Amino acid sequence: MTKLLLLGGTAEARALAQTLHPQVDIISSLAGRVPDPALPVGAVRIGGFGGIDGLRKWLQSQHIDAVVDATHPFAATITAHAAQACGELQMPHLVLARPPWDPGQAVVVSSDTQAAETIAQQRFSRAFLTTGRSGVSAFADSDAWFLIRTVTAPDYASLPRRHHVILSRGPYHYDDELQLLKEHRIDALVTKNSGGEMTRAKLDAAAALHVPILMVARPQLPPGIRAVSTVKEAADWVAALG
Ligand SMILES: NC(=O)c1ccc[n+]([C@@H]2O[C@H](COP(=O)([O-])OP(=O)(O)OC[C@H]3O[C@@H](n4cnc5c(N)ncnc54)[C@H](OP(=O)(O)O)[C@@H]3O)[C@@H](O)[C@H]2O)c1
Repeated sequence: MTKLLLLGGTAEARALAQTLHPQVDIISSLAGRVPDPALPVGAVRIGGFGGIDGLRKWLQSQHIDAVVDATHPFAATITAHAAQACGELQMPHLVLARPPWDPGQAVVVSSDTQAAETIAQQRFSRAFLTTGRSGVSAFADSDAWFLIRTVTAPDYASLPRRHHVILSRGPYHYDDELQLLKEHRIDALVTKNSGGEMTRAKLDAAAALHVPILMVARPQLPPGIRAVSTVKEAADWVAALG
């Protein structure tokens, strides 16, 4: 039986575990960032591996046959580590990355820092910041007011001067997002190009209200990586391993 490491923390990873379990011996891995994560079926380990070396040693010690990296499209560090460790071990490796959103009329920026610069240049004054707790510090020196939505509490020492924090986890719905944008008189939405349905309602709500969207582009995948965009394609790849 194939023994698979499934790097997770996403709905797609949980769906893939559900599809493969119990025909494939899966260990799902979570970073341990959130206190009560949604857990996939099957075996789960939680916490970092200790860099590329740690991951390579773990893969060897657990006699893993293949790795599917179904982490979030912006989890670039673990994706680079998995690509390198698997390359060194000549281990079959696949990235499952959900399709990106079509940016449409959004202003595409390359980073949170560039989003903060754009807010200053365009003189936005009330921005809805949804790029996650680790990106908030890029906005620390901004004069604008921010509605900051994160899953777990951001580092309060690195927040912009004027803000309101909402702690919550998706999925989010169109009517609620519309209400939130109106209630806080939002004049710009800042988002990663995460893709997927669970968090896309904010884009539709912003478009309906003609609120400009600043969309942070995805990090590039490491070169030469095999990648698919659906759970079914990933399941087929695992099945073909034999
Ligand atoms: N970035 C996002 O916007 C986002 C959104 C939703 C969910 N997530 C999920 O949250 C997790 C962390 O994301 P991130 O952006 O902080 O990651 P990251 O910056 O790419 O990774 C930082 C470090 O966290 C550890 N790590 C990350 N994902 C791991 C996993 N699935 N299993 C074990 N260790 C993991 C690794 O530590 P070591 O070097 O010690 O191995 C890695 O070097 C990921 O699993 C991702 O799927 C991220």
